[in-house]
Amino acid sequence: PAKVPLATRPLGLWGTAMTARRNVLELIPAIATRQPIVSGKTGLRWHMVMDPESLRRILKEKVEDYPKSTTTKLILNPAIGDSLFVAEGAHWRWQRRAAAPAFAQRHVEALGPVMTAAAEASCRRLEGATGPVDLFEETVAATFEVISDVTFSGQGGFDRDAVHHAIDAYIAQTARISLMDVMGLPGWLPRPGRLFAGLGLKRMKGIADQAIAERAGAAEKDGPPDLLDLLLDAQDPETGRAMNRDELRDNLLTFIVAGHETTALTLAWALYLCAFDPAVQEAAHDEAARALGDRAATAADLGALPLTMRIVNEALRLYPPAAFLSRTAQAPDRLCGREVLPGDTVMLPIYALHRHHLLWDRPDAFDPGRFLTAPDRYAFLPFGAGPRICIGASFALQEAVIILATLLARFRFERIAGRDPQPRMILTLRPQGGVWLKVRRR
Ligand code: HEM
Repeated sequence: PAKVPLATRPLGLWGTAMTARRNVLELIPAIATRQPIVSGKTGLRWHMVMDPESLRRILKEKVEDYPKSTTTKLILNPAIGDSLFVAEGAHWRWQRRAAAPAFAQRHVEALGPVMTAAAEASCRRLEGATGPVDLFEETVAATFEVISDVTFSGQGGFDRDAVHHAIDAYIAQTARISLMDVMGLPGWLPRPGRLFAGLGLKRMKGIADQAIAERAGAAEKDGPPDLLDLLLDAQDPETGRAMNRDELRDNLLTFIVAGHETTALTLAWALYLCAFDPAVQEAAHDEAARALGDRAATAADLGALPLTMRIVNEALRLYPPAAFLSRTAQAPDRLCGREVLPGDTVMLPIYALHRHHLLWDRPDAFDPGRFLTAPDRYAFLPFGAGPRICIGASFALQEAVIILATLLARFRFERIAGRDPQPRMILTLRPQGGVWLKVRRR
């Protein structure tokens, strides 16, 4: 089978991890594995880990020794504070406990109608489209609708542009790893390019603060509780403490940011892959048309859409939105026989892991059938693993299958010659310039 587009023109550290193809069972030297950049000092070595056993050790068995990397925190703190995504220890545990009920299977299923409505709205927009469509922009619109309904019941005064401009500007200016980070220079030293990113963020936080203040002062609202209600009510079972306003805001922004672009990327890549392989697209169309007839998909249809789910998984394998995870080692350790020192950065290059030829048969081919059997748990990590696994994984999978099946039942997607999307790592793995496809009503 033909190869799908690969990440191209690797640059620096990102690129090394994106294209690492060899030594799967070893740590791959990125800048220096055995030789510290400045000998005798710790915290200056970066390791690439693609051995499933070592990944299990980092993410599950020795999770306390491998907290999120200093660089992750440096990049994300100004945007989302010390929220669930970045916090550690007791502060992480209680935030995870507070948010967990909202992401329990039963609650996620109850959110199905919000996702179905977003799929319907997406179809209406596509019906009106003339000419090629950027499916990434379209799927961002759909998933943003879902997340703003789920977090604020759509009452937050957030519009997609406010959030996107803030995040895009921030990411554009900050997410490229600074040489100063690689050198292990302390976080309080300002990084060039990170100084000007604050304005959009301030605006975004202002909108969230206002939404929280309005809700906290409002009488009971109609309808089922949304995430804001759940977090306002959440109490730490051990201390009885509730979230303060800053914590509430940082977590809501975390859900909005972590929860929609990732799913939109998955959907956009899945649609591209269907256009790339029309036979798979026809089979998925037949499955969706049989299960749904004229209506949009609901959470109850998931069991009847196994091929759609496999396509979503294969999109997550080939184009994992979180193409990298990173940790900072706290204790001396050995991974694959190599020494890891406290302060060393350990990179988990998910994109490269998912395409490794020792772990996957024909790794660069689009083949949803490979998910007929479950892959090795630690060879497929689109949502991470262990205690820090993505809290929104089943939410995202349900949303992706509902929207993808609904679109494939009603439309045919075709590639445009010369406009295949190019994956680029910019904090998430994004299609540079969008995912442009021809869309035809069936
Ligand atoms: C954590 C990926 C959707 C909220 C993570 C992690 C990954 C990930 C890889 C672990 C990061 C690490 O270990 O360093 C994805 C992908 C998604 C998705 C690929 C879509 C396809 C969502 C959604 C939400 C969400 C829908 C919420 C509505 C979070 C949060 C965490 C997280 C809060 C931090 C959890 C913790 O540390 O306890 N995600 N995510 N994600 N994700 Fe997702």
